[in-house]
Amino acid sequence: MNGRKHYMQAFDIRYCVGDRTNYVNLPHVIAMVGLPARGKTYISKKLTHYLNWIGIKTRVFNVGEYRRLATEAYKSHDFFRPDNVIAMAIRNKCALDALEDVCQWLLTEGEVAVYDATNSTTDRRNLIYDYVCEKYGFKLFFIESVCNDPGIIEVNIREVKVHSPDYRDSDNKDEALRDFMQRIEHYQKAYQTLDEDLEAAYSFMKIFNAGEKVLVHRHEGHIQSRVVYYLMNIHILPRSIYVTRHGESILNLKGRIGGDAELSDRGWEYTHALARFIQEQNIPRLRVWTSQLQRTIQTAAGIDAPQERWKALNEIDA
Ligand code: SIN
Repeated sequence: MNGRKHYMQAFDIRYCVGDRTNYVNLPHVIAMVGLPARGKTYISKKLTHYLNWIGIKTRVFNVGEYRRLATEAYKSHDFFRPDNVIAMAIRNKCALDALEDVCQWLLTEGEVAVYDATNSTTDRRNLIYDYVCEKYGFKLFFIESVCNDPGIIEVNIREVKVHSPDYRDSDNKDEALRDFMQRIEHYQKAYQTLDEDLEAAYSFMKIFNAGEKVLVHRHEGHIQSRVVYYLMNIHILPRSIYVTRHGESILNLKGRIGGDAELSDRGWEYTHALARFIQEQNIPRLRVWTSQLQRTIQTAAGIDAPQERWKALNEIDA
């Protein structure tokens, strides 16, 4: 047998013989939980990006997109009323279709599927567990975003939700905001937060107020550890990052890049100009990160803010 193929077969879970239920890297479903406008979609996308980046094949399945494909243009929050029987049937079908697609994708090619939906009742989560774990034998990890801070919710609605395709035909953003608030109220009536007693058997994490507090319950294995660690360290509220190159170095004068040279006279001029520019921006709680190389440390030397030097920012190979 071809050596590489043999190696792949020995280690790829798709080719493991027998019961896979104790395998730490079993295909995973990560199911989001939470009321609308709690940052679930943002977390799903960030997490998916990160897991793909570390080599774990991951994809998001967003139930809102299934709903938009299944129904005509969004009219109003009435669609989300718990007593809207027709809409409820459409919503349930969309949720189940998406879940089936999640499982089919994991069966054929994926390693982690992020199921981005509200999943805001215990019944719904029990159904997901039965489907994902009992029927397909995959692992399941719930991530709930809990937010009681009206300021964070309003910013999220104004910056994200009112621009969603649901409000494509609405010119009045305040009206869209009000409609979305009413949509949240409909969900609120049935919402049940993940419960450590009632749902003690499930693996989950809860993120409170965009990372103010985190609770982790019964997490298992490598993938869940990576997810928890990552989500404990990201910032889900907007912030700005300014990026600058270093000023001209003495080696640059000789037409060379790389090395660990000091700045040239023009490089120092850039240092002073950069310091003035940053000062004018008046950035609250500014932090400066540079590599450990002289030219980057000197470039940031004039900036009046706490500074850190990171080996990880050193160039890899000029
Ligand atoms: C939506 O239809 O926009 C969200 C569906 C859900 O997960 O509740």
